[in-house]
Amino acid sequence: MEFKTIIEPFKIKSVEPIFLSTEREREEYLRLAHFNPFLLRSVHVTIDFLTDSGTSAMSSEQWAGMMRGDESYAGAQSWERLEAEVKSLTGYPYVIPTHQGRAAERILYGHLGGNGKTFISNTHFDTTRANIEFSGAEAIDIPCKQAEDHESDYPFKGNMDTAKLDALLKQYGKDRIGAVILTVTNNTGGGQPVSMTNAREVSTLCKKHGVMFVIDCCRIAENAYYIRHREKGFESTSYRDIAVEMFSLADGAVMSAKKDALVNMGGFMALKNQELATACTNLLIITEGFATYGGLSGRDMEAMAIGLREVFEDGYLKYRVKSTAYLGERIRAKGIPVMYPIGGHAVYVDAGLLYPHIPAHEYPGQALVCELYRIGGVRAVEIGSVMFGKYDAQGKLIPAPMELVRLAIPRRVYTQSHIDYVIEVFDEISNSRSAVKGLKIVKEPQFLRHFTAHFEKL
Ligand code: F0G
Repeated sequence: MEFKTIIEPFKIKSVEPIFLSTEREREEYLRLAHFNPFLLRSVHVTIDFLTDSGTSAMSSEQWAGMMRGDESYAGAQSWERLEAEVKSLTGYPYVIPTHQGRAAERILYGHLGGNGKTFISNTHFDTTRANIEFSGAEAIDIPCKQAEDHESDYPFKGNMDTAKLDALLKQYGKDRIGAVILTVTNNTGGGQPVSMTNAREVSTLCKKHGVMFVIDCCRIAENAYYIRHREKGFESTSYRDIAVEMFSLADGAVMSAKKDALVNMGGFMALKNQELATACTNLLIITEGFATYGGLSGRDMEAMAIGLREVFEDGYLKYRVKSTAYLGERIRAKGIPVMYPIGGHAVYVDAGLLYPHIPAHEYPGQALVCELYRIGGVRAVEIGSVMFGKYDAQGKLIPAPMELVRLAIPRRVYTQSHIDYVIEVFDEISNSRSAVKGLKIVKEPQFLRHFTAHFEKL
């Protein structure tokens, strides 16, 4: 029989304390952090939902692998294990290790990019866009139309708009395109999945126009879960085989292993084309490290190789996706506006709708992250006009399209009682919503201001 209660498919062997604090203490910590949770000390945080990146708990197998780590400079056994695992998963013959995702992005997109080049994606993640734009190229997002409607339960809101892709590829021509990038799941678009049908269409168009197709695969196991349960024809295909099939459609992949490889640090790119792989390896050696470690310790590569297997286990993926949905569905039932359906790695709350009385230039998302911390010690990240807002020539804010707050769930870290606690925090968020005030920025850097900006309460 199938039980309703989904248990965490692990036992706890090693524990890390959470230091509890009072609301009055948190008010003081928040003031000292200039109302920016990025500036809080982690010991002052009760539940840390800032990111699911590099925050996973490793398994006992992975820790055992850490001891096996071969720290030889060249040709280490740990590298051989990682290389074999990535080759068997992706089917690509060339694997290049990097210390995290953006290092692979800088090398690959820096090489393919440059002035006059264009990249097209369902949605570029912010480091992907930054690396492309830094090379002098442009990055165009073409999410599918269904992604705009927060309430629609369309099963694959992470899809790319393939009609637009066809038109853009015709308009720009092969020589101008750096690459087409499919981000699975689509992080910036709410952690929504991409269907195999969509990946096939993108692949066909890229082949037709002779352009390179890359998969940003950092959450491809979570994406595979949705394909098996939502797309016809995959009901009895294993999660790993679904990922294998998706990789087979593309020419290469870039991965931040800090997500679905269940490690705290690591990344890679994997490629079909030998010439391109040689050029990228040459760039790797200049800044990251030799071709068989790319900025990683042997033990990190060992843990990655193991994590890339564990992440496709049935019990793990079911727990992962269902426990994220559990949080999202419960707070939605309390009337908290969330992006729907709930994505794989995070719950996205629409702070613009939650606090309609706070205008964009008073940053409703920032107000919500401060409230979450003040009330419950929960740390989340604003993904709205603090992160993506720009100023016009008169210094007036051009707001982001949406004022979101992301609650990203670390993998295998929190139990259901932690999640139930966060759900309870949202009761108070809901009760006190009309009294919450906005903030103003009093200090900000020129780039990526959300990390270090200082705020004051209005
Ligand atoms: N691509 C996607 C889709 C990502 O979500 C990230 C990181 C990267 C690339 C870059 O990888 O951090 O290893 O350099 N996302 C993190 C997040 C930071 O919080 O969503 P990285």
